[in-house]
Amino acid sequence: MPGGLPAQSLKAEAAPSEVKGVREVLEESGPEIDWDSLTFSFTETDRMYIAYCKQGEEWQPGSMQDFQNLSISPAAGVINYGQGLFEGMKAQHAADGSIVLFRPQDNARRSREGARRLGMPPVPEKMFLDAIKKTVSENSRWVPPMGKGALYVRPLIFGSGAILGVAPAPEYTFLVYVSPVGPYFKGGITPTSLRVSDEFHRAAPGGSGGVKAIGNYAPGMVPSQMAKKEGYSEIIYLDAVNHRYIEEVGAANFFCVKDRVISTPELTGTILPGVTRSSVMELAKSKGYEVIEEKVDVDYALEADECFCVGTAAVISSIGRIEHGTKVVEYCGGDVGPVALELYETLTSIQQRRSPDEFGWTMSVE
Ligand code: PLP
Ligand code: COI
Repeated sequence: MPGGLPAQSLKAEAAPSEVKGVREVLEESGPEIDWDSLTFSFTETDRMYIAYCKQGEEWQPGSMQDFQNLSISPAAGVINYGQGLFEGMKAQHAADGSIVLFRPQDNARRSREGARRLGMPPVPEKMFLDAIKKTVSENSRWVPPMGKGALYVRPLIFGSGAILGVAPAPEYTFLVYVSPVGPYFKGGITPTSLRVSDEFHRAAPGGSGGVKAIGNYAPGMVPSQMAKKEGYSEIIYLDAVNHRYIEEVGAANFFCVKDRVISTPELTGTILPGVTRSSVMELAKSKGYEVIEEKVDVDYALEADECFCVGTAAVISSIGRIEHGTKVVEYCGGDVGPVALELYETLTSIQQRRSPDEFGWTMSVE
């Protein structure tokens, strides 16, 4: 039957089950979103991924389903004892027309390390990457146009089984949802104003600061809200032992530059090993900067030429001002710092494939 369709296909095409529903038609069109007004907030999308695993067994194959609420036991480990972690990465439209992820293998690895720390079964890399790709692919209409934001990908791994004693839950859920997002900080690229906290700490040695445990985040909400009420963008946490060395900026890693030398707090177990942090270190080294991982004394940072913070959500954000006690320092006259700007341009052009990805950091989503 050259040039024609086999009879079977014709029959299938006419079958009522194949007639497009309203939802499908809507899903094929672009969502009604003002891409220029995106903020870092939740927007419900079409589809999500879900998989389950019993304690001591292998993860069962996951599946895609429409975005929906979960049904969970009131005794679930995650809502009683915080047994859970999350990840965060971004999918973006790239210059070559594809949709790309940035170093998702690193998020997969970090999730496995976190799962082990929290007594949960680690999700194998292949399963993690398949889930991410499928979820992005089935929500592709929610990926903002290039340069207008990104599709934030949020994997969760948590104890969903019921347990009353303080112990690992009998069952786990691995879930991935997505949301289109804009800038993390309210002012976009306007340099942030930060306050060093003398009252609160994010993590202590031996705790869970080095993994993306969900329980690390609630205690930071009130300090962050208090600072925002007083006009700051976020707070800077110092280490809990000496109360002297910079750890992190809310949910982002810290960098400072003095005499062209770039310093960032060394990883001691209380700081999250950011994927952006390690990318920025590699990029800066490749540009000839000296990059040092060390204890960054808050007084040293206050005398730096420039400071910035980095993360998936924050990308690279210049810090315009830091207040610590009675000291207030303004950097670069309140403008975006030159090193932050240079690294921002380099990082985002790799992430959007506007320049060659010499490090092999991007991954296409079919
Ligand atoms: N620090 C904390 C506490 C975070 O939650 C994040 C965000 O993931 C980061 C740093 C930055 O890490 P990444 O660059 O992997 O997003
Ligand atoms: C990220 O940068 O991916 C984060 O996890 C920040 C977040 C807590 C909003």
